[in-house]
Amino acid sequence: MSIIMFTNTKGGTGKTTSAFLVAEGLVENNSVAFLDCDRNRHLSKWQERRGGEGPFMIVEADNQNEDEAFNQLTELEKAYDVVIVDMEGIKSQIIYLMLQLAHLAIIPLRPSAMEIAMTADTTQIIHKCSQAARRSIPYRVLLNRLSGAIVTKAEKALRAELRADSIPVLENGLLARESYAEIFATGKTLAELAEDGKRSHHNALANARAVSTEIAKLIKEL
Ligand SMILES: Nc1ncnc2c1ncn2[C@@H]1O[C@H](COP(=O)(O)OP(=O)(O)OP(=O)(O)O)[C@@H](O)[C@H]1O
Ligand SMILES: [Mg+2]
Repeated sequence: MSIIMFTNTKGGTGKTTSAFLVAEGLVENNSVAFLDCDRNRHLSKWQERRGGEGPFMIVEADNQNEDEAFNQLTELEKAYDVVIVDMEGIKSQIIYLMLQLAHLAIIPLRPSAMEIAMTADTTQIIHKCSQAARRSIPYRVLLNRLSGAIVTKAEKALRAELRADSIPVLENGLLARESYAEIFATGKTLAELAEDGKRSHHNALANARAVSTEIAKLIKEL
């Protein structure tokens, strides 16, 4: 029903990590499927590591055949409440195609002036697709790898810069947390990691849920 696409033509900005965390939050109240367009196949590897089924469906997109990938997305949309698309960090035709169907695009980026400048490539693609589709495709920047829960001066300045460029930013950002990398190393969900009672996992879970709750609210309003 709702398609949320995690995209940034720059590599390594946290698309797969944040897509996973949002999926884990949304699956508490929705059926969720992943369309994995990231050729690194981190999601399938995560599932293998846990020895099979997880809380959400994971489908590997046919990256060699864009038409087929498009069909995969339309089929998943019919069967699941939410489909999360994890794009790879390069500029490719498939981004344009998938955006046509997206209800919301999320652009994760590190909070640095350089990364913001490099995001222009992605926002231009979204604007072009909006023009072509004759509808405004909603998108939000997600600040990833923030240094702490307290908003720093530097973060405030970056948010102001993005606002000045009319780029909408999610209120909640993801902090830099070891727990997020640990998910992919262990094959566990964040909630499963937090079962050990460690404060670091608990805090990471609270942060991730704040982001997924904001996105859940957003897709209801769109
Ligand atoms: N908030 C975070 N805290 C700690 N580590 C993070 C965080 N976000 C991302 N990482 C780490 O940064 C690296 C890149 O993250 P990720 O794979 O999610 O990026 P990506 O945008 O999907 O990359 P690609 O463009 O290659 O698909 C990974 O090693 C991941 O564990
Ligand atoms: Mg990725």
